[in-house]
Amino acid sequence: MFNKRIKVKDLLQTEQTGHEVTVMGWVRTFRNNQFIALNDGSTNNNLQVVTELGLLDDATIKRITTGASLKVVGEVVPSLGKGQKVEVKARTLEILGDSDAEKYPLQPKKHSLEFLREKAHLRFRTNTFGSVFRLRHALAFAIHQFFNEKGFVYLHTPIITASDAEGAGEMFRVTTLPIDGTAPRTADGSIDFAEDFFGKSTNLTVSGQLEGELGAMAFSDIYTFGPTFRAENSNTTRHLAEFWMIEPEVAFNDIEDNMNLAEEFIQYLIRYAMEHNMEDLEFLDARLAEEEKAKPQNERAEFGLLEKLKFVVDNQFERITYTEAIQILLDSPHYKKKKFKYDVSWGIDMQSEHERYLVEKHFKKPVIVTGYPAAIKAFYMRLNDGCEPGKETVAAMDILAPGIGEIVGGSQREERLDKLEQRMKDFHIPVEEMSWYLDTRRFGSVPHAGFGLGFERMVQFVTGMTNIRDVIAFARTPKNCEF
Ligand code: 4AD
Ligand code: MG
Repeated sequence: MFNKRIKVKDLLQTEQTGHEVTVMGWVRTFRNNQFIALNDGSTNNNLQVVTELGLLDDATIKRITTGASLKVVGEVVPSLGKGQKVEVKARTLEILGDSDAEKYPLQPKKHSLEFLREKAHLRFRTNTFGSVFRLRHALAFAIHQFFNEKGFVYLHTPIITASDAEGAGEMFRVTTLPIDGTAPRTADGSIDFAEDFFGKSTNLTVSGQLEGELGAMAFSDIYTFGPTFRAENSNTTRHLAEFWMIEPEVAFNDIEDNMNLAEEFIQYLIRYAMEHNMEDLEFLDARLAEEEKAKPQNERAEFGLLEKLKFVVDNQFERITYTEAIQILLDSPHYKKKKFKYDVSWGIDMQSEHERYLVEKHFKKPVIVTGYPAAIKAFYMRLNDGCEPGKETVAAMDILAPGIGEIVGGSQREERLDKLEQRMKDFHIPVEEMSWYLDTRRFGSVPHAGFGLGFERMVQFVTGMTNIRDVIAFARTPKNCEF
């Protein structure tokens, strides 16, 4: 009979009364030995369950504690309490699982996000994380819907690979060789990966792009959506060692088409969340407003969460070149007052402080930056034609978002075999081992472009959560792999 239960969210939406329902969930609070606030995760709104005096014996009443799980059968009746139209008058109440009130870590009060990170296995039961993870789900669903509507093929690219797609060397090794010093060696004394499980050196993927490009050379339009791994020792509020990335790759697209797709995609996701998860967004909007109040005036965000989201769907992103971005930074009062920690000059890999200045102080909206110096971008990006010697740029695009910084990284790809081979040699990438990748340029090469959207950064943007550890169920960061 368990499957006969009605979800709290559905029940709270009805106005019909007089019929009997079965509800199940976890106790949030219990007042006056009579009023239970029951939550089943379908919404932050609790169902009020009323137990009439005399229905339960004292022993059972004592067991109705915060965190305990219940099955209640009872009549739906009009509610006198404010904020809800109906409540359930219990006919029978069964305790499915006890929760020792002395030991249960989540008290019915506000806990800090830091505390809840330590209790990540229970934090889904709080309003904040209920809203965040329902939104994360909605966004994941919307991603598939967006690409499905456009006729893209969802390609599952491998998690274990032998290549470094970004050429940045930030990879986790995958091996079954012993790590106690007894691994087989080659004649020159280095580890003999021919003896390893895959017969070669392998790692967790940093991006599905290279395999995605192979798919795009047949299906025209593909996307990937899966976990990616980076062994970068960055302890920041926007870096994870394991994060999810969405990577569309489109044949016959150039950098401009790529920007249009990315902008449309981001706006679609936000609109989807506003259409389907307004209740959760309103909750997070109020939560953020509360958090902002605690900050000094000059550090407060200009927009509330909902205001910001509405602004982003209603306005076009700013588009500038890297060269223009550097000039804006050099001309800024911020630079003149020496307020940047890192220096600014053409050729630098912009630091987070620079990106944030551009989006938060200068443009106050998402910005797409194109035409980065070739030297600081990945080998597969298309070299722009007609560059001044020493000032070569590539058809790269990064999207910078207020409060987040880089949310998307992408480019038009180098489709010319000779130019790509040269770039690979310049970057010391083993051309022979990547022969499969170069085949796409040998047999029917076409202009193509794609990008990667960091899913957690997108969830941060939509939920307003400042720490990336709070938008993924169980964060993997340097020196931390709990749960
Ligand atoms: O800019 P990135 O490194 O680009 C790529 O991996 C390309 N292969 C994508 C492509 O063109 N198909 O990463 C893309 C995005 C970043 O903009 C950022 O949003 C996110 O992935 N990202 C991270 N998110 C969380 N933690 C990290 N350590 C991240 N590194 C990148
Ligand atoms: Mg990037």
